[in-house]
Amino acid sequence: MIKQFLAGLAVLAGTSPVALMAQDDIEGQIDALLAEMTLEEKVGQLTQYSSFWDATGPAPQGGEQEEKFEQVREGRVGSMLNVVGRDEVRAVQELAVEDSRLGIPLIFGYDVVHGHKTIFPIPLAESASWDIDLIEQSARIAAVEAAAQGLNWTFAPMVDISRDPRWGRVMEGAGEDPYLGARIAVARVKGFQGDDLSADDTIAATIKHLAGYGFAEGGRDYNTADFGTVTLHNVILPPFKAAVEEADVRTAMNSFNILNGVPATGDAYLQRDLLKEAWGFDGFIVSDWASGREMIDHGFAAGPRDAAELAIEAGSDMDMESYIYRDHLAGLVESGAVDMAIVDDAVRRVLRVKHELGLFKDPYRYVDDPDQEDILMSPDHRAVALDVAKNSIVLLKNKASLLPLKGGEKVALIGALAADKDTPLGNWRAAGETGTAVSVVEGFEAAGVSFTYREGAAVEVGEAGFPQPVVVNTTDRSGFDAAVAAARKADKVVLVLGEDGLQSGEGRSRSDIGLPGVQQELLEAVHAANPETVLVVMSGRPLILDWADANVPAIVQAWHLGHESGHAITSVLTGDHNPGGKLPMSFPRSVGQIPVYYNYMMTGRPGPLENEVFWSHYNDLPNTPLYAFGHGLSYTGFNYSGLEITQGGRSVTVSVTLENTGDVAGTEVAQLYLRDPVASVVRPVRELKGFEKVMLEPGESTLVTFELTDAELGFYDPYGNFKVENGDFEVYVGGSSAADLGGSFTWSSN
Ligand code: NOJ
Repeated sequence: MIKQFLAGLAVLAGTSPVALMAQDDIEGQIDALLAEMTLEEKVGQLTQYSSFWDATGPAPQGGEQEEKFEQVREGRVGSMLNVVGRDEVRAVQELAVEDSRLGIPLIFGYDVVHGHKTIFPIPLAESASWDIDLIEQSARIAAVEAAAQGLNWTFAPMVDISRDPRWGRVMEGAGEDPYLGARIAVARVKGFQGDDLSADDTIAATIKHLAGYGFAEGGRDYNTADFGTVTLHNVILPPFKAAVEEADVRTAMNSFNILNGVPATGDAYLQRDLLKEAWGFDGFIVSDWASGREMIDHGFAAGPRDAAELAIEAGSDMDMESYIYRDHLAGLVESGAVDMAIVDDAVRRVLRVKHELGLFKDPYRYVDDPDQEDILMSPDHRAVALDVAKNSIVLLKNKASLLPLKGGEKVALIGALAADKDTPLGNWRAAGETGTAVSVVEGFEAAGVSFTYREGAAVEVGEAGFPQPVVVNTTDRSGFDAAVAAARKADKVVLVLGEDGLQSGEGRSRSDIGLPGVQQELLEAVHAANPETVLVVMSGRPLILDWADANVPAIVQAWHLGHESGHAITSVLTGDHNPGGKLPMSFPRSVGQIPVYYNYMMTGRPGPLENEVFWSHYNDLPNTPLYAFGHGLSYTGFNYSGLEITQGGRSVTVSVTLENTGDVAGTEVAQLYLRDPVASVVRPVRELKGFEKVMLEPGESTLVTFELTDAELGFYDPYGNFKVENGDFEVYVGGSSAADLGGSFTWSSN
């Protein structure tokens, strides 16, 4: 505080550049501060340390925790990640503000991905709600809670589009579609950053990972990505661009992968030419964990000094845990290899965001009021978490209306995941405490369902590994008999199977994405004992459910739903909540089909040709996924009719009548798909270009309208130029990407 007080006096005297940073002429003040800073202090602003080793990778040699804190005191650190807790943040901030020469505050980052203390559904699940307002609210609450614990920066949202469910990090994204992904990216950034970044309950967001990380070959995390520039501009980049242009996201993170032979951290085209110049991004870019140094392993940099030069030149402003800037950047500037202007630009960006957060006005603004913590896990936050969880559930199949459960039915509830209070918290559980989710068993108890519980088979038998436990599938079938006996005695079975919360996420790619361990055997045994079986799938990714789809009458996709998981699942099973979620990612029939996604390009041999060989197909599988993108059932029915297209000025309006044809109220996500059948660049067979979530009472109908303008009709060519071409277009509207109610129009921009 002393330094701040003195700085305050200095403001009055008009002398201290750090204190002057609290003023509003930020760019002029940054100039003054830069002039005051030594080269080492500038490099410090570009150095980020983790407060503990084992967040997401082993730390390189040479930096014990105390040594790091000493460097904070020396003004050689600009940011910390993984400092968790209000008092902890305060203690480290004091080192920077009170002890360092200039007292520049640190910015504290953390992976607040799906809630901070109150844990929300994993992002892929939330995306299945297609509820943009709810998704924004979820991010808002995460920010409020994170800020209450002193954090001012989250490494979220991950906006990587992915078509590969083997990749463990699909749980963290919005799925396979760039349009939905862009809407969700904007919502999340707005939720985290709020209307005023300087408020003490808003935090800076990060769009990551620039770019192509979700296209890791074979779905193996950290692997090479290789795709064409049409895919880059039309599929990968739109969520990044939307977050910059529509939500003014303040930071971006680059990526572990190489693209076109260049590691993302050393990619000037992505970071400088596109993000900073073409899109006008004036926040800063942080590297991913040690991704700067990893350019040596890629075979792109000869050593750490070379890596530092390549990264800073390419526009990677802050180095996370590589130590390459700390060790080499000053030397590179002194030798003339790196221009001081490049370093100054990077430092300016970091200082700008710190200023916007209000840290120069009051570095303790996030930690000065203990009452701020009262809102952690508040009933209001839990209520929103429950709402999001309910809306994230997707009813995949419901033959002969097996669901909802009827009052008075005796239910056998089977599966270790039904009692698991940890798994629903998912992989990135931030400050969420383990073992605190509401289980399905507890949900059933609270709702008064008459049930018997049997574990059947555990999901994991062992924990080992660094930095998080490695889940080991059980081979123990000893619980099968009791489960089968309970199934026989029951009217219906609810079988909760799937993935442990730590079987998806970073570093958790899988080559076989069926039900892990002996769960498939358990499913078959229980189903044989009682065919009236409901399968509830908890997972962080689409699983292969081909056997279940062919045999089990009802399937509910329940992801990892956060703290309120058990209540949300129960409310769907009992019919208290009519499910309305829609898949944000296609579910493959088999691993061999991957990548399978709805917005593919037509081949020259599309078929289908009966009893023919030479067309694009598999001999042993249809080309279609098991469950299409956008699919999701309800306990009521919806009918789409009367599609009309009107054109006026520079837009096209498409309208349909949507009717609830059943006898319960329900929510439907009406989706509009566009096809440009002939273009100078081959366009996908259809692309989502609009959606609306509508609640309808039984028998009620409404007119749903969509507007198409240049933004929806155009596309990027291979060189990144946006084009809108005249010609014919087709539209389809319905409840999934397989919608068949269609129409066409001719677009002419003249
Ligand atoms: C590595 C992950 O790829 C990134 O998304 C995360 O933000 C950092 N580790 C920090 O935990």
